[in-house]
Amino acid sequence: DATIAKNIVTLAEFLPVHLRKPRVGIVCGSGLGTLAESITERVIVPYNVLEGFGESTVPGHRSELAFGKIGEASVVAMLGRLHPYEGHSLATVGYPIRLMAALGVQDLIITNAAGSLKADVPVGTIVVIDDHIALPLLTGLNPLLGPLSRPTSARFVPLSDAYSRSLRLAAFRAAHALGLSRDALKEGTYAWVSGPTYETRAEGALLASAGATVVGMSTIPEVVAGRDEGVRVLVLSLVTNMVVGVIPGTGGRSVREEHDAELAGLVSDRPSTPTVSHEEVLAMGKLKAAVMQKLVEQIIISLSAS
Ligand code: 6GU
Repeated sequence: DATIAKNIVTLAEFLPVHLRKPRVGIVCGSGLGTLAESITERVIVPYNVLEGFGESTVPGHRSELAFGKIGEASVVAMLGRLHPYEGHSLATVGYPIRLMAALGVQDLIITNAAGSLKADVPVGTIVVIDDHIALPLLTGLNPLLGPLSRPTSARFVPLSDAYSRSLRLAAFRAAHALGLSRDALKEGTYAWVSGPTYETRAEGALLASAGATVVGMSTIPEVVAGRDEGVRVLVLSLVTNMVVGVIPGTGGRSVREEHDAELAGLVSDRPSTPTVSHEEVLAMGKLKAAVMQKLVEQIIISLSAS
């Protein structure tokens, strides 16, 4: 594709030769941009010098690529991702992943902030994603709708193996090597919703009963682009909040109960129905960013050793 070739020429103006063909690509989620600090010999390239890149407009996201090294591996990281809910097309959201693949990226590590749907997956847990439920993909919001991305692309891309088993294993080994507790890392299923509204309580309950572990508004378009390009994918979700109303006792009491208490002459406190906020998500991202950073670093170091 012409814009890819042009971007490769542009990048060559910014980058020393040994950083031009990164082997590992990283996508940094909300509040997880400090991952860039792990990158040595860092060269920052703003999205706006490249063609086909949108701007990330979400607080907690920058609009820059960081090239450099982690251990022996040469890497490229997106500091700030693009989401369909910002108005970017699915093709635009996947484009940076396709550029990474063209540069030579073989392993893609995607991080995100997500809400937990399970009581035994508390805030602060890192979930190694091993499957997903993507209602938008099933119902027509699929980045691969349309002509083949390349003449050699598969028409029907399987996603049953989307999450590389060896990369997931590498994540668990890395957590162990870092001395993280057994509960720090879990495996689970990511439910993708388009956003930008957070799900209702009933929608959260629906996703939980369908088997999802966490829910979020990102990542899946990049996973699909990555699989279409044939790169190995690892997704790490940081649980920043519990989804409201899914876990018993978190949804607030019903109005009927409150009224019955009134009739019985009982003074009742009036719980307001809680909501989630992006500030809460960013704050927990910040708190746990260091752990995520260490983990990603250790995974990449172990990959280049093997
Ligand atoms: Cl609770 N929902 C969604 N859809 N995305 C999130 C989230 C919740 N928490 C962080 N990201």
